Amino acid sequence: MLDDKVNVKIVIRDAVLEDIEQISTIENQAFGDPWSDELLAAELSLGGTLFAVAEINGLVVGYIIAQDLASEFHILNVAVMEDFKGIGIGSMLVEETMKFAETHRMIGVTLECRVSNAAAVGLYQKMGFDNSGIRKAYYDDGEDAYIMWKRFNNGEELEKRKSGYGIDEVRQANFQTKENETMDNTKSSDKITLAIETSCDETSCAILRGSREVLANEVYSQIDVHKLYGGVVPEIASRNHLMKIADIVDSAIKTAGIEYDDIDLVAVTRGPGLVGALLVGVTFTKALAYSLNKRFIGIHHIEGHIAANYIASSELKPPFLCLVVSGGHTHLVDVRGYTEFKVIGRTMDDAVGEAYDKVARVLGLGYPGGPPIDRLAKEGTPSIKFPKAKMDDLDFSFSGLKTAVLNYINSAKQRGEELNIPDICASFQEAVVAALYEKTKIAVERTGYKQFALAGGVAANSRIREALHFEGVKSYYPPISLCTDNAAMIAAAAYHYDEAGYSSPLDINASPTIKIGESFSEAEKPVF
Ligand code: KG4
Ligand code: ZN
Repeated sequence: MLDDKVNVKIVIRDAVLEDIEQISTIENQAFGDPWSDELLAAELSLGGTLFAVAEINGLVVGYIIAQDLASEFHILNVAVMEDFKGIGIGSMLVEETMKFAETHRMIGVTLECRVSNAAAVGLYQKMGFDNSGIRKAYYDDGEDAYIMWKRFNNGEELEKRKSGYGIDEVRQANFQTKENETMDNTKSSDKITLAIETSCDETSCAILRGSREVLANEVYSQIDVHKLYGGVVPEIASRNHLMKIADIVDSAIKTAGIEYDDIDLVAVTRGPGLVGALLVGVTFTKALAYSLNKRFIGIHHIEGHIAANYIASSELKPPFLCLVVSGGHTHLVDVRGYTEFKVIGRTMDDAVGEAYDKVARVLGLGYPGGPPIDRLAKEGTPSIKFPKAKMDDLDFSFSGLKTAVLNYINSAKQRGEELNIPDICASFQEAVVAALYEKTKIAVERTGYKQFALAGGVAANSRIREALHFEGVKSYYPPISLCTDNAAMIAAAAYHYDEAGYSSPLDINASPTIKIGESFSEAEKPVF
């Protein structure tokens, strides 16, 4: 895929015979049962057919074929070259075709779309098509097709047209050559995204306008319930999500001052997380998307944490390096694009947040452990030297540090010494910061990026925010409210996936163990 920020000139024009070779290459790439060169050439000479190509620097990168059948414009074929997918070329071809059909007073535009192809169905819905029926076993392999329709609002013209305008007029009118800049994924729009997050112990619903305007971000934290048990109890989390979710969603709608019908996109955290907790959010959100007949998308929780940074800082754009530190994750991520991630370092055992929580538990500081350790560390001095883990390259390890702190506490207790809790907190925290700094510095140098972002619940830590700065590199971190789990970050990630043409089917499931950058199936990826 082209870099998200690239702006290239796309020319949309009528296809000519010389284009057939390039069109055929794309056709063969895109379809299991491609049209032959002869068939493509024959389409070119047919009356009533619109055959347009998208061209970049003289290279044909996409095409569309549509036919006028009794004033209904049927899109027969549309495809985009593999390397140019995800930048809006297909949408541009369809939109130009729709404009053409409307100005030529067609009844509407229609096409068939594989039922399994969620991304394509979502894309057409985004362009105003309705899903108005099913053609059984339409494809050679037996798969059904959705019949998608975009009807124009010109009812009374209809009868006149059926008997009047037709093929010749369309052919004569010819397709106007159009020049366009590629869709810029960074552009802000008024798209309204509703997102739900229930992966752990926060029930959250957010409403986002465009890429970063948070209209509502309601978070119901179950921490007080789980505190009693010293950590999150999965069954209790699921039950609480279930009890709260409908109210939280209603409340977000009210806070945002919108109607359900204003929503364009519905998103949810699909994983990773506690399976029962995820299931509540996924099931609820799928039902909401279905009942509202809106596009739907399932988001990776950690990609959400990364996207919180876009809400906080308008100038942060990929590529950049991100250190994701949460209760379940410690990852160094090369954020190559809004939808492209590569994990270049990770913890081999405990996550940083987990280490904070366990140390806090032994010190009797309660759950979650991060905030009290952060606070107490300010009152202490890092006088105790805990051993540093030696890890390969960009990987981390925190279980050794955690054990060293626990051993220190137990031996002191056995000796009957009074614990200096602020000093223990400061020493533990400094050891964490040193490990994070050391590996992140190598990653910054290796990637050569000039932007670095922190993400995840532990990014709320004041010492980590203060310490992770590198010469010549700008550091970003979200406000505390967007560091810990919330749905606004899920909406921000969903916004960019939707812009890039991703869409999820309504049969996706909660996926407790999915990996960053690998959560979408082929059927959910951009079709053009
Ligand atoms: O991202 P998050 O809300 O949930 C997960 O996805 O895991 O992160 C929760 C973690 C907990 O381990 C909590 O102790 C930690 O973030 N945390 C902190 C701070 N605030 C929250 N850790 C260190 N310092 C903090 N100020
Ligand atoms: Zn999280």
